[in-house]
Amino acid sequence: MTITLTIDGQEVNAELEQTLLEVAREMGKEIPTICFHEATTANALCRICVVEVEGQRVLQPACIVKAGAGMQVRTRSEKVVRARRTILEMLASTMDLSEAPEIQAMMREYGASTDRFPDAERRESAVIDDNPMYIRDYSKCLLCWRCVQVCADDAQYTFAINFDGRGFETQIGTFFDISIPETSCVLCGQCVGVCPTGALKPKREYLLEQGISAGEISIMNTGRKQRKAK
Ligand code: SF4
Ligand code: FES
Repeated sequence: MTITLTIDGQEVNAELEQTLLEVAREMGKEIPTICFHEATTANALCRICVVEVEGQRVLQPACIVKAGAGMQVRTRSEKVVRARRTILEMLASTMDLSEAPEIQAMMREYGASTDRFPDAERRESAVIDDNPMYIRDYSKCLLCWRCVQVCADDAQYTFAINFDGRGFETQIGTFFDISIPETSCVLCGQCVGVCPTGALKPKREYLLEQGISAGEISIMNTGRKQRKAK
């Protein structure tokens, strides 16, 4: 069923099942996303995609809210820009975004400050190096859930990882905190592929960054010599 709504003052036709994000993108409008990925089910966790819908008290996440007949939507009102800027500033205050270039670009675009919340508690986590394929550095994790989704029924049906802990202590983990090789993980790498922040990284790339040469890595991979990452 085709409906008509208005986005940023422009009338547009859409299918009833389309999300506001899909309709806006078809119009060529850029709405930022972080937790949303084309390969996963939208979950509205990060809220960076919020838009203003007339008649709604709170901003609406465009990645899950469906287009409705007669809707009046504003994708870049002052309220929207302020909300996105605050979300980015909260992220920058609590986690390491040094390997998240898309989010860094959003911060520049929205004029987000890196020290808006100087007293915020930061997520700190040691690098976990427990398998031959990838490392996990949860100080860079923003809990977007993409890795869990591709490991589960959005792609791989492996269910090796999930949310672990509560509140500020929440992080992605394995059941009972066992090592990756002890889980059902098949080292497919799909979680690494969808991670937007470098929290999951191919081990080879990590070792090269640590100054370990490609030659040494191949020796490590054949098992002829072991050397621990710094
Ligand atoms: S590890 Fe990466 S993909 Fe997984 S929740 Fe954290 S940021 Fe998202
Ligand atoms: S992209 Fe919509 S809530 Fe994260």
